[in-house]
Amino acid sequence: MNLSRSTLDGVEHLSVRIRQACVNDVVHLHRMNLICLAENYHSQYFIVSILRCPTLTWIAEVLEEDAVLGRFWRPVGYVFGRTQQPENAEVEGQITSLAVLKKYRSLHLGRKLIQRCMTAMTEFYDVRRCCLHVRVSNKAAMKLYCDVFNFQVEGVRSRYYPDGEDAYFMSMDLTGWIAEEHQEFANQQQFMSEHTAIV
Ligand SMILES: CC(C)(COP(=O)(O)OP(=O)(O)OC[C@H]1O[C@@H](n2cnc3c(N)ncnc32)[C@H](O)[C@@H]1OP(=O)(O)O)[C@@H](O)C(=O)NCCC(=O)NCCS
Repeated sequence: MNLSRSTLDGVEHLSVRIRQACVNDVVHLHRMNLICLAENYHSQYFIVSILRCPTLTWIAEVLEEDAVLGRFWRPVGYVFGRTQQPENAEVEGQITSLAVLKKYRSLHLGRKLIQRCMTAMTEFYDVRRCCLHVRVSNKAAMKLYCDVFNFQVEGVRSRYYPDGEDAYFMSMDLTGWIAEEHQEFANQQQFMSEHTAIV
């Protein structure tokens, strides 16, 4: 997909792709996790997550040009998801880690990564509810989860993070959301077929 953003020199056009991550991406996922978040995981955690739920880890990449490497896809963001089954409850999805490199924020990559992950949760695991933890001070992520999606705060987990900060425990009902996503996709297809001339 093509995105544009304003810079001091004018408008920059970016080619971006979002694809399922694989074990070969672990070095990049680990690096982005270290750069963007204080909650860091061992590489083995990423490998196990990918192998356990291969359709729930997505990576965003930007096409770049380099004098030595030529054209290449630079990883700039990721989302990790997994499934879990609380006692006496249905299987649910969980977003375990999300990050976008600073230079590539506010391009709706975070939103698209979550969309891909939650769509896969419903399609591959028949999950109806997604949950996550977020630092109470993380306003950007809170806005993304609450305003763009419809995550609701279910409670506060006291001193959830190793540095002592509390976490909001949030969840979202995926059944209504996925129906809306499908409807929007159908509307787009309809629009395209009505506005595409046959030559
Ligand atoms: C949270 C994060 C993943 C968002 O990624 P992003 O690609 O910049 O987010 P998007 O461009 O998709 O933003 C979608 C919406 O989120 C909200 N949002 C994102 N960044 C925001 C900010 N800095 N301030 C306020 N709202 C913000 C807005 O509502 C935005 O919608 P809008 O652009 O239509 O206003 C990114 O800021 C990040 O990597 N932060 C560090 C790691 C982190 O906190 N991860 C989440 C851990 S739970």
